[in-house]
Amino acid sequence: MTEQDIKKGLAGVVVDTTAISKVNPETNSLLYRGYPVQELADTQSFEAVAHLLWHGELPSDAELEALQRQERGDRALDPLTRELIDRSPVTAHPMDVLRTAVSATGADDPSADDASRESDLDKSVRLLARIPAMVAYDQRRRRGQDIVAPRDDLDFSANFLWMTFGEEPEPVVVDAFRRSMVLYAEHSFNASTFTARVITSTTADLYSAVVGAIGALKGALHGGANEAVMHLFDEIGEASNVSAWLETALAEKRKIMGFGHRVYKHGDSRVPTMRAALDELVEHYGAQDMLALYEELEREFVRAKGIHPNLDYPSGPAYRLMGFDTPTFTPLFVAARITGWTAHVMEQAASNALIRPLAAYDGPDERHVPGAEG
Ligand code: ACO
Repeated sequence: MTEQDIKKGLAGVVVDTTAISKVNPETNSLLYRGYPVQELADTQSFEAVAHLLWHGELPSDAELEALQRQERGDRALDPLTRELIDRSPVTAHPMDVLRTAVSATGADDPSADDASRESDLDKSVRLLARIPAMVAYDQRRRRGQDIVAPRDDLDFSANFLWMTFGEEPEPVVVDAFRRSMVLYAEHSFNASTFTARVITSTTADLYSAVVGAIGALKGALHGGANEAVMHLFDEIGEASNVSAWLETALAEKRKIMGFGHRVYKHGDSRVPTMRAALDELVEHYGAQDMLALYEELEREFVRAKGIHPNLDYPSGPAYRLMGFDTPTFTPLFVAARITGWTAHVMEQAASNALIRPLAAYDGPDERHVPGAEG
């Protein structure tokens, strides 16, 4: 086996087919079940997009109503999950708390090992409904605030904001949040989705696959980047500091978070839609200084390296303006991507083959433990 045979990071390797989404870096497009993600973000509720990813078609009015009824009825945290969140130290990263809470929800579900599609769909709706309650409660308890009960009269996005902040959210904020959820929902065989598929390929249950995917998403090269973008903004401070800061960062060969992508090399197709949502939030909150820093860093970094922003670049500042704490940003990504992950779990289970690649061994040649020869 030569160096060329080894596809480090599986770059460029096609490992299976999928009917869930199509990423085309040439045309800079992302389709969910054939629909451009921008059109979905402009016109559909997040629940309708979840139905599309799971079932392959946009829902009829009756189907959407049924999904919304089920989702609204499944939002309350079970006592075990609530207790585990309460007992987690506030020094733990919210992704660690969320990973634990999802695992507890699986342990609490007697149908966890029922691998039928019907049962997996129920589990998917349960996680769609419960993850916002976990994320919202974890942020609140860190601020010394009480849990806020979900509201049946609010849809997924508005209820998420309600449970986090305990206030009726403004329509412009709900709309920006909804769009971010749609844009984050699915992205083919990214690292966390592939992790979920690997776990499913062993016939382990859906909760195990999701817990593994949360672990994969935490890293700064994947979902952790939306949070890391804000650490950069805090470090830079204001637009006038960008030039000097970037010069030093590039000299130190630092990675600039929120830029670059394994698949998109000419720009991320989701960025313009999220940027439009960010612009509306900037207008709403009067946050022109933050936008000036955003634009300056983008202009300078693209000029220096020709590497374009990915979705995490506009979503980080958008989540900060909405009022989320920075470490909560990656859990928000989980709340959205749970739809794509579970769609992939069900697709993998429907035509399964154990995922088990090979490695080229480059350790010591065969040798013997002293005293064991012959
Ligand atoms: N900052 C500085 N340099 C970068 C960046 C960046 N953000 N991204 C790529 N480069 C450089 C690399 O240093 C490398 O340079 P070299 O050839 O001189 O060594 C070259 O561009 C190629 O980069 P790779 O890391 O090899 O490309 P890969 O396709 O493996 O990386 C990745 C993609 C991991 C996303 C990378 O661009 C990165 O680390 N970005 C920052 C983290 C980030 O924003 N992640 C979010 C991903 S999208 C999402 O999860 C929604």
